[in-house]
Amino acid sequence: MHSTAGEQPGAVGQVSRARAITSVNRTPSRIIVVMHKPVTIVILGAGLGTRMKSRQAKVLHRAGGKPLLQHVVDTALSLAPPERIFAVVGHQADQVRQSVAASGIGFIEQTEQKGTGHAVLIGRDSLARMDGYLMILYGDSPLLRTATLRRLIERETEGSAAGVLISALMDDPTGYGRVIRDERGGVLDVVEQNVCTPEQLAMREANMGIYCFRADLFWKHVDEIRPNNPAGEYYLTDMPAILTRAGHTVEAMQIEDPGEALGINDRAQLALVDAIFRERKRSALMAEGVTLIKPETITIDSTVEIGMDTIVEPFAQILGTTTIGENCRIGACSIIRDSALGDAVEIGAFTVVNTSTLERGASAGPFARLRMLNHVEAGAHIGNFVELKKTRMRAGAKAGHLAYLGDSDIGARVNIGAGTITCNYDGYKKHATEIGEGAFVGSNSTLVAPLEIGAGAYVAAGSVITQTVPPDALAIGRGRQENKPEWAMKRRKLAKTVEAKNVS
Ligand code: UD1
Ligand code: MG
Repeated sequence: MHSTAGEQPGAVGQVSRARAITSVNRTPSRIIVVMHKPVTIVILGAGLGTRMKSRQAKVLHRAGGKPLLQHVVDTALSLAPPERIFAVVGHQADQVRQSVAASGIGFIEQTEQKGTGHAVLIGRDSLARMDGYLMILYGDSPLLRTATLRRLIERETEGSAAGVLISALMDDPTGYGRVIRDERGGVLDVVEQNVCTPEQLAMREANMGIYCFRADLFWKHVDEIRPNNPAGEYYLTDMPAILTRAGHTVEAMQIEDPGEALGINDRAQLALVDAIFRERKRSALMAEGVTLIKPETITIDSTVEIGMDTIVEPFAQILGTTTIGENCRIGACSIIRDSALGDAVEIGAFTVVNTSTLERGASAGPFARLRMLNHVEAGAHIGNFVELKKTRMRAGAKAGHLAYLGDSDIGARVNIGAGTITCNYDGYKKHATEIGEGAFVGSNSTLVAPLEIGAGAYVAAGSVITQTVPPDALAIGRGRQENKPEWAMKRRKLAKTVEAKNVS
């Protein structure tokens, strides 16, 4: 195998040497294989997915933390550059397009869904210009692994078949098209479940709906697909029979694990696929040195990154674009979404962290809520029943118990007493609170924003603070205490006299 390590990742089609795969470029996030023969990938995702019983297009439903189509697009991107990837969209085309727009792939709109064959045909103008090979993936089959698709491409590009499809032997192939082979093992036809003869129904080799064709032969013959089935649709599954009739061969590449090509048609299958993604992610993290306690209870999106020796406790959910450093502890039942945690961060049980950053050695919880856009600097501490919103806790600052800090900038080493509340909203606008380095805010203080408390200042417990506190000052904002000697004793005496009168 040649080494062409200097080439651009994903430059499929610009290389032309003797063997199919010439180099593997490793990037931290994915492996890109550069192939001799260009492969164009079409992902079908126009269907509504009637069996989902949903107002949302099927490929927008999520599994493993990503929309179904996004999974397939990500897999496709590890095999071809975005200019050679097209998604066929139809139902809720705009939303579907938007959900994967960042990937830079092309789109083909199928306004009327007349079948899987029709979905490819409709893109003829953009697709037939592409030489090499045409791979077709279904947007509702997100579990397929890159390695399997790579094998499919190799089998097609290195052999002489006009096309190769992926099949699997299934105990119960209900719902799938059946693969009909000739005596030499070639594929004669794919027959959909609803038109199978009883003998065909008994066949266990199912079509997984993934194909790689020689592009020239595909486009030469695709017009021969006829809508001659009960649904009146153009079925892509007619292509093997058409190519075979024209004197070409079509092969089926059997995969070991039919679960990999599981198509999602209803909610139960969606849940199953989600569970498989979760399991894959947990296994990958454990292999990289992350401890998961009772892993089967933990939910981690495929997009999450976690460093070595971090411990995740039962029932934690770690979601979205979250990144977690090394040596952290994520407490039981915590939910962490779209957040960045440095090394050695401690998240106590039942803590919710959303779109926030926690630097090295910071801690939050148990029972804390970092609602949105907070920044907790190194070594700062957020304790139980503390809520933060758009707040910066500078290095070493502490809010140990029962507080609400919103739109605030809390200086380094500040101590926020239990029950402190920033009154950041006047019914119309949000206002900021700024507390200088080393200040001490006594328990149960009410800080009416906009407000500035100077560095090193003290706020007496129970104060309502409405004016700027100068640095190093003591602010007391509460009624003065008055003691009335023997008041209680006299009160009791009076009560007794009244009682005696009432009885007599
Ligand atoms: C299809 C195959 C079947 C295979 C199964 C594997 C056909 C005719 N049948 O059946 O042999 O065993 O997948 O999962 O291909 N789509 C469009 N436009 C359309 C119709 C469908 O884009 O006009 C898209 C859908 O959004 C979906 C994919 O194609 O992502 C597959 O369609 P679906 O209706 O789920 O086909 P199956 O009945 O599962
Ligand atoms: Mg399907």
